Amino acid sequence: MNFTRKDFPEGFLFGAATSSYQIEGHKFGGAGRTHWDDFAATPGNVVRAENGDLACDHYHRYAQDLDLLKDGNFDCYRFSTSWARVMPEGRGAVNQQGLDFYDRLVDAQLERGLKPCATLYHWELPSPLADLGGWRNRDIAGWFGDFTEVIMGRIGDRLFSAAPINEPWCVAWLSHFMGHHAPGLRDIRAAAHAMHHVLLAHGTAIERMRGLGMSNLGAVCNFEYSQPADDTPEAKQAATLYDGIYNRFFLSGIFDKSYPEDVMAGLAPHMPKGWQDDFDTIGTPVDWVGINYYTRKLIGPADTPWPALAECPGPLPKTQMGWEIYPDGLHHFLTRVNRDYTRGLPIYVTENGMANDDPMVNGQVNDQPRIAYLDAHLAACRRAIDEGVPLKGYFAWSLLDNYEWSLGYEKRFGLVYIDFETLQRTPKASYEALKLALQR
Ligand code: FCB
Repeated sequence: MNFTRKDFPEGFLFGAATSSYQIEGHKFGGAGRTHWDDFAATPGNVVRAENGDLACDHYHRYAQDLDLLKDGNFDCYRFSTSWARVMPEGRGAVNQQGLDFYDRLVDAQLERGLKPCATLYHWELPSPLADLGGWRNRDIAGWFGDFTEVIMGRIGDRLFSAAPINEPWCVAWLSHFMGHHAPGLRDIRAAAHAMHHVLLAHGTAIERMRGLGMSNLGAVCNFEYSQPADDTPEAKQAATLYDGIYNRFFLSGIFDKSYPEDVMAGLAPHMPKGWQDDFDTIGTPVDWVGINYYTRKLIGPADTPWPALAECPGPLPKTQMGWEIYPDGLHHFLTRVNRDYTRGLPIYVTENGMANDDPMVNGQVNDQPRIAYLDAHLAACRRAIDEGVPLKGYFAWSLLDNYEWSLGYEKRFGLVYIDFETLQRTPKASYEALKLALQR
């Protein structure tokens, strides 16, 4: 790496991130069925129809994984809590084994001097709630609030930070309009409802956590830098609308208590009744914002109904996901989010990283492209800090190779290689490079 810890301000936090369904092994410990189990069981949705049953078996191997974080000189760990592990039906009965697991997981972090940073929901909705309409049903805000109280009633006293929902855009648009993630819908009304309810659930969870006396509560959104595919006014307009749906909608709701006009021009007829009255909950103050950033997109017009957008191939070097590598986009969002929305609140990069075809050669993974990717994005972070952005920490995605949703176990994002046959962990060169850079 071209940096060390000393190149960042005193107290800057370095961490790695994971999520529950992607690593834990969902078949263990009495967890209930989720819509990701259902989605994966439906032909054509997921590569080789793989699911999170076993994943990295983190449920049993968490101590070893937390040792990797500690030995890698990380300060904090961003993990998520599985709703269906804690409440198998989504409502009502609590699975004590699930609560006990997260209790152990938090204590094991503290024992290692790691700061626990929790996300309440990273996508595995309990199936019985999906049966009731899931994110399309306004009642989800209350169900999610109740889950929040149950899990945070147990671990909320020992967390460094907490955020309700990972990436509202993915929960709502990717999953209900584009159909790429569970529940796999391609329906504009479902998408509009989900976009609003995900924010209502976010605000409700923040209010419930405040009620429990918790602090350092944030919102985690994902961003893609949207650029016109060519010089035409049509492409410019398309890129702006893509930016509105992806990058502005959720932050506007939380920080400006309104939705962007250009997005509402298409979504208004599909919104749930009374959406205008929910902004006091949606906009309840947060203490920080988390930015997940991976790539940019070139956008042009499409000959379809609204939003009439087409993603166009770009010329930049790409990751194993086919995503263009564009570190300036991270600098763009750090400065823009601070200037236009959060206005001085602490910002964290809560996810950033790349998938790479990581061959294991003689027991080693020499992932130089990942080292270059992380280095370039951390340089973008330093540039933003120098310009006054209150960036307080950076989490690499991901600690471990894991279940990459509809792409199954094929795409490797980890700093640590997982052999999915033996479940053996092997730190990659990127892990060693970060460890060296983060020495205290
Ligand atoms: C993010 C998700 C994470 C992982 C990475 C690659 O959108 O939060 O679970 O899939 O992308």
